[in-house]
Amino acid sequence: MVKIAPSILASDLCELGRTLEMLNRVGVHLIHVDVMDGHFVPNITFGLDFVRQIKRKTKIPLDVHLMVKNPEFFCQQFLELGVEYLSFHLEATSHPQRLLSKIREQGKAGIVLNPATPLSFLEYLWGEFDFLLLMTVNPGFAGQKFLPQMEGKIREAKQKISSFNLDCELEIDGGINLMNAPLIASYGANILVLGAGIFGHPDPEEALLRLMNPSFYTNSVSNDV
Ligand code: DX5
Ligand code: ZN
Repeated sequence: MVKIAPSILASDLCELGRTLEMLNRVGVHLIHVDVMDGHFVPNITFGLDFVRQIKRKTKIPLDVHLMVKNPEFFCQQFLELGVEYLSFHLEATSHPQRLLSKIREQGKAGIVLNPATPLSFLEYLWGEFDFLLLMTVNPGFAGQKFLPQMEGKIREAKQKISSFNLDCELEIDGGINLMNAPLIASYGANILVLGAGIFGHPDPEEALLRLMNPSFYTNSVSNDV
């Protein structure tokens, strides 16, 4: 099954209440929340209070993607809010294994790789995380173009997960849209994050309903990324 995680960063934030109502109505699998600190990435977005407010408006699990330096400083506070999926960048900490095991005490722990970070950097970490999030754009902004050189990385990651027989989800984030989603899912990704691909669509609810229909993935693989 392909899980859809709309990234609210790309939505009209002045209409967030209505957007959350729509996501609740559709019953999306996860809500992706991009936390940026202006240091790890050149943008500032949401903090703890914002996530706390969202948690009050939805029962859909939150997928918080930390794009911050020193993620160990924030993880505990997000977990205390009841965040279900919590990920941080391998590039942002010197002690990823310690942080992953701490997150796992309370939620699903994810490790994120920037596009230029090779999978080999995970050599001594496989088995320590519940999901791997591969960035397919350079993090910082919604609405960027999918980097086609990431296709091989996604396939290789899926091969590793299968060959090690790991219970590990594979999440892809950046530049996904209705055109390329089936192809990316065919590489073995099971969580697709979409920002502009949903909220830049003339009818976001209709786009979501298509993305959440399993037959969308069996009937429409296009080679156009
Ligand atoms: C980028 C963020 C993404 C972004 C996705 O730094 O991590 O989650 O919001 O937006 P799109 O799908 O528009 O690339
Ligand atoms: Zn993200």
